[in-house]
Amino acid sequence: MISNTIKFIYRDRIVEIKNPNSNETLLNYIRTKLKKTGTKEGCAEGGCGACTVVLGELKDSKMNYSSVNSCITFLPTLHGKQLILVEDLLLTDGSLHPVQEAMVNYHGSQCGFCTPGFVMSLFSMFKNYSKINDNLIKDTISGNLCRCTGYQPIIKAAKSLNKKNKNDQFTKNKNNLIKLLKKINNESIIIYRDGKKYFAPRYVQELKKILKKNINAHLLSGGTDLSLVVTKERKDIDCIIYMNSINELNYIKNNDKYIEIGASTPLIKIENYIEKYYSDFTSILKRYGSVQIRNVATMAGNIATASPIGDTLPLLLALDAKIVLRGIKKTKILDLNSFFIDYRKTKLKKGQFIDSIRIPLFPKNIFKAYKISKRFDDDISSVCASFNLEMKNKKIKNIKIAYGGMSSIPKRAKQCEKILSNSTITEQTINKAKEALERDFKPISDMRASAKYRMMVAKNLLHKCFLEVASNKLIRVNK
Ligand SMILES: Cc1cc2nc3c(=O)[nH]c(=O)nc-3n(C[C@H](O)[C@H](O)[C@H](O)COP(=O)(O)OP(=O)(O)OC[C@H]3O[C@@H](n4cnc5c(N)ncnc54)[C@H](O)[C@@H]3O)c2cc1C
Ligand code: FES
Ligand code: FES
Repeated sequence: MISNTIKFIYRDRIVEIKNPNSNETLLNYIRTKLKKTGTKEGCAEGGCGACTVVLGELKDSKMNYSSVNSCITFLPTLHGKQLILVEDLLLTDGSLHPVQEAMVNYHGSQCGFCTPGFVMSLFSMFKNYSKINDNLIKDTISGNLCRCTGYQPIIKAAKSLNKKNKNDQFTKNKNNLIKLLKKINNESIIIYRDGKKYFAPRYVQELKKILKKNINAHLLSGGTDLSLVVTKERKDIDCIIYMNSINELNYIKNNDKYIEIGASTPLIKIENYIEKYYSDFTSILKRYGSVQIRNVATMAGNIATASPIGDTLPLLLALDAKIVLRGIKKTKILDLNSFFIDYRKTKLKKGQFIDSIRIPLFPKNIFKAYKISKRFDDDISSVCASFNLEMKNKKIKNIKIAYGGMSSIPKRAKQCEKILSNSTITEQTINKAKEALERDFKPISDMRASAKYRMMVAKNLLHKCFLEVASNKLIRVNK
């Protein structure tokens, strides 16, 4: 079924909007049309968390609650979901939700601008997790910035949620909600308005047909990059195809050779899955934006953006990842290594889309990855480095090294790899490999870091990696 009307659940009823503006942000809709002003605008680029709202979705017949930045969410993507705002946490008799109560009791309510966002992030944590620990709390609020009092009262409030009764108004109303969500979740959306087009197909076959007729369309996945064209550059996007409505592309699985990740899989799902194969991959993902960003952003979006500082890219390059590109007629499997051409330019052709990403498994290898950014949480890398190698008879084998932030594209360090390949770990070899990085990369200076700093960090990360490898494997770093 196809419709030009988006439907979502708000306060236990189905809300319908016919032909919505595809470039309108959810935040704008909430504040100006729904007239709910608890949700605030701080940065309008997904960085501060003041605009955090929670979306309820049915996943495998269970309710899942995701915190998202409404400032970079386009309104039509709300179709098929439940919208929960800070105002909706209050019970009809005026009593507070357990999360609000905790914030009051521990003096976590500081300024009126950020508090609603903090409450909503904590609310999604409260709904999704039965046990709350320090790491989970820090992760949950890493995308909510406070520049006044600090985080301690909020952290204490969050910890106290372990003792609260989970049976809130949303749990009590779960069955009714699931019924409503099932009712609105079976339509593809096509909107034509003011010369702009928006498509939210449900199947790949549908997507292909739409692409054939709209070859210049912009593919929208999490929108954490694309939406900034509207919110920051103040431009319109004429034609959008929403990829995250295609469930077929939202999966992660593996065989004994590789892990396969569907293009519409949010990063938050990947970070848990990949941990047992490559724990450093998970560590980097945990520092990727914030929970709000990772709840929607995809690896496919990160790859297609081709930013030299895209965090998953050096990791995928060091792991020799492949991407499955699908066109209207043909499917192609490409080495990611050959995908990036120049600054933000890739081999992706019009009419093509990333279908999935394949990450080879190297059970015998050591995989390490490091991200250096000005701020630990919720910041973009200055340099990101990744190392994949095997140690055999004390010799380095099959080594693959890749860096982000060191060149106009994320790139393998081939000269450096040559020096290290088949060598033993000695200080002399490491020094030679560090020198080789100067032949591999000519970094630039920008607001994040100077060229000199970048090169020094890249060398130090290489050194760090081999000190760690040597100590883990009890191999001496010989003089
Ligand atoms: C606050 C904030 C923090 C961030 N932090 C980080 C960070 O720490 N590290 C980092 O690397 N990035 C970061 N980013 C950048 C951004 O989140 C990533 O680039 C993200 O992976 C983009 O994925 P997306 O699904 O949101 O892509 P979208 O914004 O939906 O799309 C990005 C581009 O990819 C194209 N595209 C999307 N899906 C497909 C597909 N299936 N096939 C082909 N093309 C496609 C789109 O057309 C568009 O050109 C941050 C962004 C914000 C706003
Ligand atoms: S307004 Fe700052 S994240 Fe949305
Ligand atoms: S709570 Fe708003 S700046 Fe601290």
